[in-house]
Amino acid sequence: MTLILTNEEIEEILPVSACLQVLEEAYRDLGSGAAATVPRYDVFTPEGVNSYYEYKTMSGVFPRRKIAALRLNSSVVKWHEKAGKVRKDKLPVAPGNRFVGLVMLFSTETGEPLAIFPDGYVQKMRVAGAGAIGDLPVEAVSHNINVTAPVAGVTTEYGGYLVTLVECRFCHGQELAGGVYPDPSVTLITPNLTPGGELGFWTEEQFLATIQTGVTPSGHELNPELMPIKEVGNLTDDELKAIWLYLQSLPKLPQYTE
Ligand code: HEC
Repeated sequence: MTLILTNEEIEEILPVSACLQVLEEAYRDLGSGAAATVPRYDVFTPEGVNSYYEYKTMSGVFPRRKIAALRLNSSVVKWHEKAGKVRKDKLPVAPGNRFVGLVMLFSTETGEPLAIFPDGYVQKMRVAGAGAIGDLPVEAVSHNINVTAPVAGVTTEYGGYLVTLVECRFCHGQELAGGVYPDPSVTLITPNLTPGGELGFWTEEQFLATIQTGVTPSGHELNPELMPIKEVGNLTDDELKAIWLYLQSLPKLPQYTE
């Protein structure tokens, strides 16, 4: 039987712990040659002014779990310039203003299709390293980060702790000056969060509003598929103020470039 699942159903049945375990197994097997991936394929065809249709596939076989997987993105993308840098934006133009990303799983024992589901939720789980995002205890998620919680409060120290806990560095780079987006299927350099970037011109209120509404002071709508706005937006005002203090205490670094 082929399961057809929604993002909501996956969110319900896939605990973060299971996701972490499987990710670890898969990366180990890939490293030892016991699993295989097929390079990502990208096909672009012109669609409109500056916009292209992008057909993208990624696949892999994971014998330990007796599964082969295909992820497919069918999107309309647009390139435009922002602050002197060229950005690529995926446009949510499928009915209901949606992106189209599907995952298909097949059995390596029988070849049969096992499941078909959208990639929205699982890709976020994977990208966030099955993230510390959420309400898990630190020990449950951060294997290699050893942090003791400072007293909660609107302090630089507590803000620094939250930034580590929520793993902003995973996407925004070690120095928080921007970095290569961790999902190789996305071509993107994340923005600089130090005062050397746009945040150097924001007020605390503007920072909170950006995280809570997903729209920056310059009117740019953050892509919720890429920046976990919903999860970060779940932090309380005081937690966000602490993060703000911490980010503002960082040295003024230039935007990371490749
Ligand atoms: C899964 C990757 C990821 C994580 C984790 C993440 N971000 Fe982001 N963030 C992004 C991406 C990608 C963008 C740019 C999105 C866009 O332009 O559509 C972004 C944009 C932003 C912006 C807007 C900056 C600007 O100059 O426009 C802020 C502020 C921000 N992130 C703060 C944070 C903070 C604080 C954390 C941790 C609590 C965090 N992010 C964690 C990926 C991430």
